[in-house]
Amino acid sequence: MQFHEKVVVITGAGRGIGYALAEAFTEEGARVVIAEINPETGAAAAQKLSAHFTQVDVSSAPAVKQAVNEVVKTHGRIDVWINNAGIAHKGMAVDLEPEDWDADIGVMLSGAFYCARYAGEVMLRQGSGSMVNIASVNGLFAQKARAPYCSAKAGLIMLTKVLASEWGAQGVRVNAVAPGIFMTELVQQGIDQGIVKKETYFSRIPMGRMGEMNELIEAVKFLAGDEASFVTGEVLRVDGGWTAYHLFYPFEEAF
Ligand SMILES: NC(=O)c1ccc[n+]([C@@H]2O[C@H](COP(=O)([O-])OP(=O)(O)OC[C@H]3O[C@@H](n4cnc5c(N)ncnc54)[C@H](O)[C@@H]3O)[C@@H](O)[C@H]2O)c1
Repeated sequence: MQFHEKVVVITGAGRGIGYALAEAFTEEGARVVIAEINPETGAAAAQKLSAHFTQVDVSSAPAVKQAVNEVVKTHGRIDVWINNAGIAHKGMAVDLEPEDWDADIGVMLSGAFYCARYAGEVMLRQGSGSMVNIASVNGLFAQKARAPYCSAKAGLIMLTKVLASEWGAQGVRVNAVAPGIFMTELVQQGIDQGIVKKETYFSRIPMGRMGEMNELIEAVKFLAGDEASFVTGEVLRVDGGWTAYHLFYPFEEAF
């Protein structure tokens, strides 16, 4: 119960990975804040977990500032902040609209920066805190039809390293996880729309399967907590060996 009574804020926790993290930290006895744009899923998640809900669009700096103030007013501090909110516009670069690009960058890169800007200020004042950014293997390796998503996640990985460099001396750590593939509504949508196939993923992942949610949760808890007290600026890949293997074609075709 290392997170007992710790104030843990998770963006985009109305569903998917964010919700699973909120549930896990609640089970650890943390005071969880669900910072979510969707009022229905956010409120429902908070009610189910007896957590606090603050409605926020992380791509708006004033909204993030207000949400951070609200958390501090209610809970007095911020121990862990997880930048998880995400969206993904898919399509070849020449087919995408500039708004698609702006939206992905706005939520996953600018949004993470705004959260770091205001929540980081609180943590630095405290002289303690841990930020975990949910990046992606797509921030490390290119994928066709994902220009805004890959670019936002690559930027988020670099932001992680810069913040870790700036805040290390003041007791605030910043790390990222780079998940491979985990079954959530976001992924299911891609499968339903025929954009991605489960079999293709499996053939590219040495462990031959998607990740289980608890396997990602454990990685985030490790980085968020004291067991990682000398770990900062790290990008922990949780991908079943996908990016180690690195060959983006089915195994059989390698011969
Ligand atoms: N599912 C995977 O396999 C996978 C793999 C790699 C990385 N990721 C990353 O993990 C994170 C969560 O993914 P997921 O699969 O759970 O997605 P999801 O779509 O199920 O959940 C994303 C959540 O973010 C919220 N959100 C969107 N825009 C927001 C905004 N402007 N402000 C606040 N909240 C906002 C959504 O309402 C939703 O609740 C994302 O950053 C995603 O890129 C997921």
